Amino acid sequence: MIISATDIRQALDERLQDIDADRTFVLCDEHTARLCLPPTGLQARGCPVITIAPGDEGKNLDTLATVWQALTEGGATRHSLVVNVGGGVVTDIGGFAAATFKRGIRYINIPTTLLAMVDAATGGKTGINFGGLKNEVGAFHLPEHVVLWAGFLDTLDKENLLSGMAEMFKHILISGDSQPVARMEALADTFAQGRDATDLIRQSVAIKERIVAADPTEKGLRKALNFGHTIGHAIESLLLEKHTPVLHGYAVAWGMTGELYLSHITTDTQLPIGTLRGATRLLSELYGPCPVSCNDYERLYALMLHDKKNLSATDVRFVLLDAGADVRLDSTASREAIFEALDFIRER
Ligand code: GLY
Repeated sequence: MIISATDIRQALDERLQDIDADRTFVLCDEHTARLCLPPTGLQARGCPVITIAPGDEGKNLDTLATVWQALTEGGATRHSLVVNVGGGVVTDIGGFAAATFKRGIRYINIPTTLLAMVDAATGGKTGINFGGLKNEVGAFHLPEHVVLWAGFLDTLDKENLLSGMAEMFKHILISGDSQPVARMEALADTFAQGRDATDLIRQSVAIKERIVAADPTEKGLRKALNFGHTIGHAIESLLLEKHTPVLHGYAVAWGMTGELYLSHITTDTQLPIGTLRGATRLLSELYGPCPVSCNDYERLYALMLHDKKNLSATDVRFVLLDAGADVRLDSTASREAIFEALDFIRER
């Protein structure tokens, strides 16, 4: 269940009472232990705190083993609970530790970044990176609760807010809304003015929840959540290879720009030009130019061919949007069309 808390301590107290675990363990990273743990009141309850290093580099088997070890040493049983306090790395690794420890124990996510609030912490995808591949090993394991508290947004810089907003823009675009650009602009305006975004966050999570409830293990409709991610993941991986990493949401924003273009030029979908222009203008204003050149196209294409969502080794699969604001899953595009889309991203 997703809980939007005004008083996080009270909201948590109520859930912990309901769950009635024999032991409750808290997983944090070094930043969230300092900045985000105090308002939860979890330390005052005497819960053991497991702290991992911040950052995606630590989302690996070694870190997972240290979490299992801490659970074992702390006497965790099948009736214990893990509470993850952090961004996507903490919720992914803590969720996977919970999915696998004694074949599965319960956990709660308390996401502390906007990206984790609207995406990573909901929907039960858990896992670690392995063999140089992101999220290569994991499991679907739903949290008992996701506790959203907007107070954590005060700990985030503008870039991290923008990174999370990209996934909120994605939810608007795939939601079938008849006025997606107006909703995207209203969202951008709320954050730009520093107004309370709680309702918008709740609405965004509700879109994801509806999709996950219909297709928890991504056999069909859940693939819609990958809109913008085929090109976006390729850009993110390329920039990582070049040692100039970007936040996930920036890559997704550039990826959505390319996939909006493909949605417009593809005969089967024909996304209206007004939506293409309006949405990509806003994304370009917020996320700036994409730092790739035409010399990168072959590598980007090769990365897209390796995307784990593809059905064959020779076809790149996309989620596209059609003229009726519906999603078209498992769409394909030619190499030429993909290169055109990359040109479009660079020209915006
Ligand atoms: N982040 C996409 C999903 O949860 O399916």
